[in-house]
Amino acid sequence: MSFMGKTAAFMGFNALREMVSDSMAIDMGSAGTIIAVRGRGVVIDEPSVVAVNNLTGEVIAFGHEAQQMQGREARDVAVIAPLVDGVVADFERTQQMLNHFVREARSGISHFSRRAVMSVLSGVTQVEQRALLAAAAYARIGRVYMVEEGLAAAIGAGVRADDERASAVVDIGGGTSNVAVVANGTIVHARAERIGSSDINSAIIDHVRRHRGLTIGARTAERLKLELTTASLPEDLAREMTVKGRDVQTGSPGALEITAGEVYAVAQPVIRKIATAVNETLAELPPEVAADIYDRGIILTGGGAQMEGLEEYMKGETKLAVRTADEPRLATVRGLEQMYEEPLLLRRVTRNEPHPLMDSEASAFET
Ligand SMILES: Nc1ncnc2c1ncn2[C@@H]1O[C@H](COP(=O)(O)OP(=O)(O)OP(=O)(O)O)[C@@H](O)[C@H]1O
Ligand SMILES: [Mg+2]
Repeated sequence: MSFMGKTAAFMGFNALREMVSDSMAIDMGSAGTIIAVRGRGVVIDEPSVVAVNNLTGEVIAFGHEAQQMQGREARDVAVIAPLVDGVVADFERTQQMLNHFVREARSGISHFSRRAVMSVLSGVTQVEQRALLAAAAYARIGRVYMVEEGLAAAIGAGVRADDERASAVVDIGGGTSNVAVVANGTIVHARAERIGSSDINSAIIDHVRRHRGLTIGARTAERLKLELTTASLPEDLAREMTVKGRDVQTGSPGALEITAGEVYAVAQPVIRKIATAVNETLAELPPEVAADIYDRGIILTGGGAQMEGLEEYMKGETKLAVRTADEPRLATVRGLEQMYEEPLLLRRVTRNEPHPLMDSEASAFET
């Protein structure tokens, strides 16, 4: 082949590479979807909601844009969360949402992604896993590696894959709390409970309606939680926030003050349930593993771990040392990203059903 011919062939190959780009790390949670692209870091961080036109069934907005509409939707629009408690509740909307975010995450003209590492909950069923794989295929991702969320969170929180001693990670998400004990880059023991930080929102809405006679929206409840709720008894019980909504009795617009002491009492049962799940899981460990955790304590990850006073509260409940990961909400996606740097680990931990191509492919990107 002439020099020019070779160059043309080479350019053709590069152009092709441009179109088929990206190694993605996808953490699709019930509260938020975070996507990182290898070499570019986190490119998508959006709430996992879509706005649907009830008349046509069409999705009209995704993520932040949809969330903006929440509570103030037009008559024929509903804002829904297609993932509930960490699993696919609305398959079609999950597919469309993932497809949308993956497209946004791609750079330039690329239409396909070569591969993606995706997190799944430990307790996920084959049916739920297949739903996620189908959603990824719909989003034109060539190869999907499913990794258990707890392991990804641990790696993202700084646990080394070659550490033979055990570490415990508690990921508190929107809909789920996942306790994972990891050693040697694998999960020794894990348990996921379908209770998370969003359950505090529901408890707040319920409380304000039933005991204070005001119906408040989801976004107001989220603000109350973020600004006022603490896991340990607040120093200033009387600190308050004005919330507005709809009066239960009259139906008219209304407002009232909610104090930190009041939301503390409402959130406490949810937080206690999470702590109980942690204690129960840690009581199921083999003795050597329990010994490691006794020495090392536990690491908190997930958005729910950012609640004020949670570290202290967990210390008290577990009688162990507790630390919160840096940027706890991003721990899972960081761990997934890290898998690309450790292909042998990725091959070992991938949860997908056996696939004939997998071994050759995994070794292909070891080079
Ligand atoms: N500062 C904060 N204080 C309390 N809660 C917070 C804070 N920041 C975020 N959260 C809560 O964290 C939750 C989202 O966490 P995260 O993004 O880890 O969930 P997710 O991964 O989408 O959910 P899941 O893992 O259950 O599917 C939300 O309920 C949010 O309200
Ligand atoms: Mg999560």
